Amino acid sequence: MKANPGGNIDPAAVLGRDELIQTIWEILEQQSVRLNAERRIGKTSIIRKMCAEPPAGWLPVFQDLEGVHTAEQFSRQVFEVVQNFLGRWKRTANRAEQFLKESKIGVGGASWEHRGPHSYWQDLVVKSIEDLVDEKCEQRLVFFWDEVPYMLGNICRRQGEEVAVQILDTLRSLRQTHTDFRVVFTGSIGLHHVLARLHDAHLATEPVNDMYPVEVTPLAPVHAHQLAAALLSGERIPSSDCQAATEAIAEQADYFPFYIHHIVRCLKSNGTTATPESVLEVVQRQLVDANDPWELAHYRTRIPGYYQTGNDAELVALVLDCLAPAAEPLGVQEIFNRIQNQSAGHTERERLLKVLRLMERDHYLSRTLDGKYQFRFPLIRRWWRLDRGL
Ligand SMILES: Nc1ncnc2c1ncn2[C@@H]1O[C@H](COP(=O)(O)OP(=O)(O)OP(=O)(O)O)[C@@H](O)[C@H]1O
Ligand SMILES: [Mg+2]
Repeated sequence: MKANPGGNIDPAAVLGRDELIQTIWEILEQQSVRLNAERRIGKTSIIRKMCAEPPAGWLPVFQDLEGVHTAEQFSRQVFEVVQNFLGRWKRTANRAEQFLKESKIGVGGASWEHRGPHSYWQDLVVKSIEDLVDEKCEQRLVFFWDEVPYMLGNICRRQGEEVAVQILDTLRSLRQTHTDFRVVFTGSIGLHHVLARLHDAHLATEPVNDMYPVEVTPLAPVHAHQLAAALLSGERIPSSDCQAATEAIAEQADYFPFYIHHIVRCLKSNGTTATPESVLEVVQRQLVDANDPWELAHYRTRIPGYYQTGNDAELVALVLDCLAPAAEPLGVQEIFNRIQNQSAGHTERERLLKVLRLMERDHYLSRTLDGKYQFRFPLIRRWWRLDRGL
């Protein structure tokens, strides 16, 4: 196997996700799913593999929604998928097609989205899904929608929060009315950020709480070792102790497949032998590389966008500064005291509690059993210390 950090990898090269994939298919028998995880952990690879290797009876369709900027574009994508699916069974999406004809939009009309009022898209989505669930085909369609939060963010900007809420509400109502309708949501931004923005706009909605949340974690050590070994061998990188080298790679990468690919790519381009020492050196160099090949600056640059209330962004940086050098996990009171000493302004305890909870959802932090906070990923902690000179 060749190192391909960040590329679209072959489904056969997606290692260590079989159990999770099996679980997701089992959940899909009953309900729709939202995949939550830190960025670059391998969400898209998982859903692409699921689409490439579905179990009997399912027809999964992968759609990247990052480029969708309007509700009309979205409805068109749904319509086309349903139309293609029913076409396989020599059927058509009658209601939706009829609707397009009657509204003089036409099935292939390029400028259709400019002609009607907003509710056109809603009718098209609803009628497409009704067409879908009414036909008893031998396979079941499941939509795999990647980058849903991006699409909703785009729509918020272009058409306003209300339209984004209408999309979520329409989909929720379809899931409730048609018990056979299945979707999987995922994306590189947490959906909770878009939902918080919608709440802030006073549009009360709980639009995804009927979808089962599935957390994607880094690889289990055994699979991380397997991936490192497959990459070392595929790239023909010599090693006198392959096991020690693969263990070092997996551990230094925090078991993230993305970083494992990066380490091997780097060993290859340096022409080095794989040893625990050379792995350590490669990682040290990558973490301080001005080009940021591991895209770690994202953990810093996204903070102002994620934490827009008051001075929350500043508080997040203070919390990370306080936890990164700490030898042990810290309790809330300890964090509070340290921050009070460090920052010029006064921090309210309640505000700190709220921010700590959000930071947990954003995978910066995790809690020990006795409630103390620590960095969720040692690698990010290490990078934060280097980046901030701590
Ligand atoms: N299970 C896996 N086995 C091998 N390599 C993997 C696996 N999962 C991910 N990778 C590697 O990590 C890279 C990033 O994976 P992927 O794009 O699936 O992550 P993501 O969570 O969708 O990222 P983003 O948050 O940016 O959308 C892939 O290009 C590949 O190099
Ligand atoms: Mg992705």
